[in-house]
Amino acid sequence: MKTLIVCASRYGSTLTIGRWIADRLPWGTVDVYPVDRAPGPEGYELIFLGGGVYDEGVSKEIISYARKNVDSLKNKRIVLFAVCLDTKGVYVPEGKFYGGWHYLNSLLELMKGFPPVYAGLLSGEINPKKLTETDYRLLKVFYGKILKRNITEVPYKTMMSKPEVWEFVEKVLARLEGGF
Ligand SMILES: Cc1cc2nc3c(=O)[nH]c(=O)nc-3n(C[C@H](O)[C@H](O)[C@H](O)COP(=O)(O)O)c2cc1C
Repeated sequence: MKTLIVCASRYGSTLTIGRWIADRLPWGTVDVYPVDRAPGPEGYELIFLGGGVYDEGVSKEIISYARKNVDSLKNKRIVLFAVCLDTKGVYVPEGKFYGGWHYLNSLLELMKGFPPVYAGLLSGEINPKKLTETDYRLLKVFYGKILKRNITEVPYKTMMSKPEVWEFVEKVLARLEGGF
C-alpha cells in the first residue's frame, strides 16, 4: 500500500517516530518527509500526518498541510499522530482537561466528513540542548508557574519508545484490515 508519512517536527522527535513507523509497516513503498518538503497526497493510498505538540495543540504546520491538501485527503486512508510529553491528559480543579486527545482536535475538526482510520498520541522528548532561546524560556516558565517545580535548568526528558510506536502501528494495521 503506497504510504506517505508527513512529519511536522521542530526538534526531530516526530521525524524519528515517523521513521520508526515506516520501519514497522510490512510493505516497502513508504516515503517519510518533513512537512516543509512533503509532496501532496496524490499518488499515495495511505497518509500518516504527524506533528509535535506546542502550547496545547499539534503543530500548526501539519494543520496547514492538511488544510492545503484537504480535497485530495478526502479520498485517502488517513492516520494521525501527535508527539508530546502529556499523552494522557490531566484534569484540573477548575473543571477542565488539558493534554491528551485534545491535542488532535484541530486536525480532527478538519476531517469531520472523512475521519481518519486511526489516531494516537505518542511520547516525545525535551532535549534542552536543542531548544531555541524562546522555547527554553517558555518551558522554564511552564515548569515554574504551571508545574510549580523549582528548577534552575530545563531538565532533559525522553519518553520516546519504540515499543509504543510498534503497538501504534499494529493498531493501524488492524484497523486497515477492518479490525479494532
Ligand atoms: C515550547 C514548547 C512547548 C511545548 N508544549 C507542550 C504541550 O503543550 N504539551 C505537551 O504534551 N508537550 C509539549 N511540549 C513537548 C513537545 O511536544 C515534545 O518536545 C515533542 O517531542 C516535540 O516534537 P518535535 O521535536 O518533533 O517537534 C512542548 C515543547 C516545547 C519546546
